[in-house]
Amino acid sequence: MKIVIIGSGGRLGAALVRAYREKFDVVGFSHAQLDLAKPDAIRSTLDNLKFDVLINAAAFTNVDLCETEKDQAFAINADAPRVLAEICRDKNAKLIHISTDYVFDGHKRQPYVEDDAANPISAYGESKRAGEKFVLQTSDRHLVVRVSWVFGQDRPSFIDAMIKRAREEEQIEAIGDKWSTPTYTEDLAEWLPRVFDVDAGILHLANAGQCTWQEYAQHALDSCRAAGVLLKAKTVGALKLADMQTWVAGRPVYSVLSSAKYQALTGIKPRSWRDAVADYIERSYSSKT
Ligand SMILES: NC(=O)c1ccc[n+]([C@@H]2O[C@H](COP(=O)([O-])OP(=O)(O)OC[C@H]3O[C@@H](n4cnc5c(N)ncnc54)[C@H](OP(=O)(O)O)[C@@H]3O)[C@@H](O)[C@H]2O)c1
Repeated sequence: MKIVIIGSGGRLGAALVRAYREKFDVVGFSHAQLDLAKPDAIRSTLDNLKFDVLINAAAFTNVDLCETEKDQAFAINADAPRVLAEICRDKNAKLIHISTDYVFDGHKRQPYVEDDAANPISAYGESKRAGEKFVLQTSDRHLVVRVSWVFGQDRPSFIDAMIKRAREEEQIEAIGDKWSTPTYTEDLAEWLPRVFDVDAGILHLANAGQCTWQEYAQHALDSCRAAGVLLKAKTVGALKLADMQTWVAGRPVYSVLSSAKYQALTGIKPRSWRDAVADYIERSYSSKT
């Protein structure tokens, strides 16, 4: 099976290339190799390639910058997925388009399921939702996979920033009134092939459970200690979402994704975010004290 991965220089894209290199015939395109803001370049790059599955892990992911660079956000997060969807349809290939929990407004207090109405509250969320719609309209075979709070070894994320601060400072804080679920790139790489042949429209995929950023960071610190990583900070204090004055974009207060549909389709139950975080820290930090 031949797989094309767009966004191979990103946190998720790089993890997918690494994980699939041994099992599949993989071609990755980084931002430098293919600029999604240029539809002609997308067509000319992919036109002569034969493949079975294309995974689009590239996106304009800077949530605040999307507010001031809306045109660019829509070009990359909405127009480009439409072009990719058309190319894949014409080649009889499947597009797996990665999307986000930020398509929801966050008013729910139960995990979001695929049938819940999307109602983005940021330009990033709007652009990603527009991309989802284009992909789903283009072919019944295409799949939109929504993920949340992605972390992994290929590009630092929130968890790595917290560990860095905890190594340097005695006192650290994180937001204690915003809920979602961390998603480990290594786990996603294992889950995705199970739906290469599944026509399911939208799928939510995240590790199991839910937490605030404060709980996430606290568990990261506890896992570091268990793995023998030296830290100055022991506990994570609470910040309030309302205090984040520098944030430009709105962010959903609650965006936990239910992976029940994926579980029903595949029989695979994602492990808890706590286990995934502990595993990540053991693998990525335990020898770097
Ligand atoms: N990170 C999260 O917490 C999170 C949460 C929910 C959903 N998601 C979704 O998960 C997917 C993967 O995100 P990630 O965490 O891996 O983010 P990431 O590390 O920022 O990766 C995104 C990739 O897209 C590339 N890119 C940006 N503009 C591009 C363009 N014009 N043409 C081609 N490539 C371009 C970036 O390249 P450069 O860096 O070189 O510009 C980067 O390699 C995205 O669809 C994102 O919306 C992420």
